[in-house]
Amino acid sequence: MVSLALDSAALAETYDRVSDRQFNHGKLLIEDLQVSPGERVLDVGCGTGRLGAHVAELVGPSGEVVGVDPLPLRVALANKRGSSFRAAVGRAEDLSQFADGSFDVVFLNSVLHWLPEKLGPLREARRVLQRGGRLGISSAARERPHEVERVLEHVLSSLGLSGTAEASGSTPHKVTSDELTSLLVQAGFPQPRLQIRTFTDHFTDTEDVLAFNLASSFGNFLSNFAPADAERVRAALEAELERRRTPEGIRLQRHLIFAVARADG
Ligand SMILES: C[S@@+](CC[C@H](N)C(=O)[O-])C[C@H]1O[C@@H](n2cnc3c(N)ncnc32)[C@H](O)[C@@H]1O
Repeated sequence: MVSLALDSAALAETYDRVSDRQFNHGKLLIEDLQVSPGERVLDVGCGTGRLGAHVAELVGPSGEVVGVDPLPLRVALANKRGSSFRAAVGRAEDLSQFADGSFDVVFLNSVLHWLPEKLGPLREARRVLQRGGRLGISSAARERPHEVERVLEHVLSSLGLSGTAEASGSTPHKVTSDELTSLLVQAGFPQPRLQIRTFTDHFTDTEDVLAFNLASSFGNFLSNFAPADAERVRAALEAELERRRTPEGIRLQRHLIFAVARADG
């Protein structure tokens, strides 16, 4: 069960500092969406607003970019960026603060895999988009989990803690590409285009891996373990991660579904 109550000022600030990975793949998603000057854009699950601020530059003064996120500490950081991007506390499941057809583009960058239910949020995205408007999603792929999740699964199994990984905060609500295609069609996006892209990351050490995952999961990563078990997991994880050390650092791959679709109408 993902909790939205584990975030802290320190985690929000860390996320803003270490989220180059989400920012960089987010820029690819925005390129896929071909966002242009003058467009109205909604960033669902905007976090600390780095990508939203980038999109605000692309749409320029004649356009508008707004964001929603359920974590008030991250929304506060987003609104301190000194950008025209504006964020409000809100959830993908309920976009009622926005009228029907109010956006040209809606995107969710590294957000869908945190949502326990997807059809409601995708229908909300369809509702707030104008006809022919574009939806962009980047999301962890259930058919190809991030390498860190495979490592964690192996570690938990070796410690006799199997079955707890789903609850430990590693993007527990992933869907497959086929499931996402079907959800998009049901939500009013008839011809979605999907592809999986692979990214290779390098981390300085285990602390770096843990800090990235903890901040990215707003405190959920490994949060369900008792302190003694958490320490065992951490030590075993370190041994496994060190086996992946290269001259550039600990090398781990992430695989993400990129989906782009047009609203029907
Ligand atoms: C990994 S962060 C991505 C943040 C941002 N999109 C980025 O690219 O940096 C995941 C975000 O999903 C948000 N989130 C979690 N549950 C959500 C929900 N029900 N509706 C909208 N956003 C949600 C979290 O608060 C968090 O900011």
